[in-house]
Amino acid sequence: MEAKRLRKPGFREARRFDKRLMHLGKGLVMAQGSAPRRLVAGNWKMNGLSRSLVEVRALKSALAARALSTTIAVCPPATLLHQVSLELKGTPILVGGQDCHPEATGPFTGDISAEMLADAGASLVILGHSERRHGLHESDELIARKVSGAQRAGLVSILCIGETEAERDGGRTLDVVGRQITYSLPQAMDAGALVIAYEPVWAIGTGRVPSNSDIESVHGFVRERLKKRFGGDGADIAILYGGSVKPSNAGEILKLKEVGGALVGGASLKATDFLQIIDAA
Ligand code: PGA
Repeated sequence: MEAKRLRKPGFREARRFDKRLMHLGKGLVMAQGSAPRRLVAGNWKMNGLSRSLVEVRALKSALAARALSTTIAVCPPATLLHQVSLELKGTPILVGGQDCHPEATGPFTGDISAEMLADAGASLVILGHSERRHGLHESDELIARKVSGAQRAGLVSILCIGETEAERDGGRTLDVVGRQITYSLPQAMDAGALVIAYEPVWAIGTGRVPSNSDIESVHGFVRERLKKRFGGDGADIAILYGGSVKPSNAGEILKLKEVGGALVGGASLKATDFLQIIDAA
């Protein structure tokens, strides 16, 4: 595939990767498998039927009129991934999956591989979400294998990390997120294929958010860990905040130090709410 100069401000970051460029229509390109420097991603979780495509269309037409300085992604359930990616073809809005199996193919009934997500139009995948870590007992080791699978398929991983309320109350927040960064990433990890999402478990879907200074201190800690692991490249990895991000608090959260965007659950389901968060970014 031929490399072209990037024309939209939201895709400046893709210049770092001139090997694997993916055409997004109308001359827009971005590096496949390369992570955006700023990202607002909507995690639909287990929500959405065919009729939810109206929200995607609304998002698409509203964003067509804006010059984006932040990359936007929608992560619908797997059943809608292909339809959403067809709907967004030719736009700079990316599509992501919400999980993948570590292997590419095989006897794993009900599972979906990173290659399948990519084939359906995804360029990102959320991995290690707390609803899977805690609800489905996913270990750091399993998550690292999934991140590896995503990398093999050319997908960017949005690796979720975050402490439970008990861990926070016990003063163990930094230990927990430090351990998750160390063990949920494979040995061979390309910093350019990684986004981190700090999502305190107790803030997800609860309407509660940490104080600004708590968010800054965890993000600062994560940044140091990433620099230690990846050297200079660790400075470029986007660290998103997630957990009850809403139109009313997005502006404040998104300007905090080391907050490179947001992973948005409930408020990403309605295009009108999601757009207000995108505007805040
Ligand atoms: P929430 O979810 O915005 O509904 O709190 C965030 C997430 O789980 O990614």
